[in-house]
Amino acid sequence: MLRGSKVGLRARHEEDIPILRTELYDDVVNASRAEAGPWRPVAPGSKDRRLVVDDPAEGHVPFSVVELEGGTLIGTANLWGIDTHNRVAHIGLGLLPSARGRGYGTDVVATLCHYGFVVRSLQRLQIETLADNTAMLRSAESNGFVREGVLRSSAWVMGEFLDEVILGLLVEDWKPKPKPGG
Ligand SMILES: CC(C)(COP(=O)(O)OP(=O)(O)OC[C@H]1O[C@@H](n2cnc3c(N)ncnc32)[C@H](O)[C@@H]1OP(=O)(O)O)[C@@H](O)C(=O)NCCC(=O)NCCS
Repeated sequence: MLRGSKVGLRARHEEDIPILRTELYDDVVNASRAEAGPWRPVAPGSKDRRLVVDDPAEGHVPFSVVELEGGTLIGTANLWGIDTHNRVAHIGLGLLPSARGRGYGTDVVATLCHYGFVVRSLQRLQIETLADNTAMLRSAESNGFVREGVLRSSAWVMGEFLDEVILGLLVEDWKPKPKPGG
């Protein structure tokens, strides 16, 4: 398991799947805002790639996010689009509604940076998010990501086109945060 200061990133367990499906992927507005595509219902037992336990795809590493204290499931995180030639990848995350706004998202981004830069020897990480997603923008920026551009009207979300922001972080600009107790 990867450990941040508040969260752990571990493999997807079978018992995570009904919780993630109900609390994240059945939520039409959340899924429409967080995914680059239209919401569609996810059936129980589905092999949807956001939920599968054993994903063999080399370029995509899915994690379940848990509270370090107690191990409660609080969301998902992934490194996707891993390109080992250019040594770049993208970060994605989604927390259960009850876990938002408590500093976990910022810690998930920090932990994914450790995974990308230290474990995977990447040199650039990228995040794409809606321009009005303040919590995501702040979670990225407080880990050193900088806004590199705006894709105007690039995302159709629930009846309107919204702008997306691209943020990037290079390994030489990354300042790992010290963990409590060392
Ligand atoms: C985006 C998300 C991962 C952020 O994680 P989080 O745990 O809620 O964020 P944090 O508690 O670490 O807060 C990060 C910053 O955003 C601010 N913030 C948190 N929630 C906010 C909100 N609803 N509105 C405005 N600011 C907010 C915090 O005050 C904090 O600011 P600071 O760094 O200046 O102190 C989480 O809210 C989430 O899962 N949202 C739904 C799915 C989603 O949008 N995923 C991202 C798709 S790209």
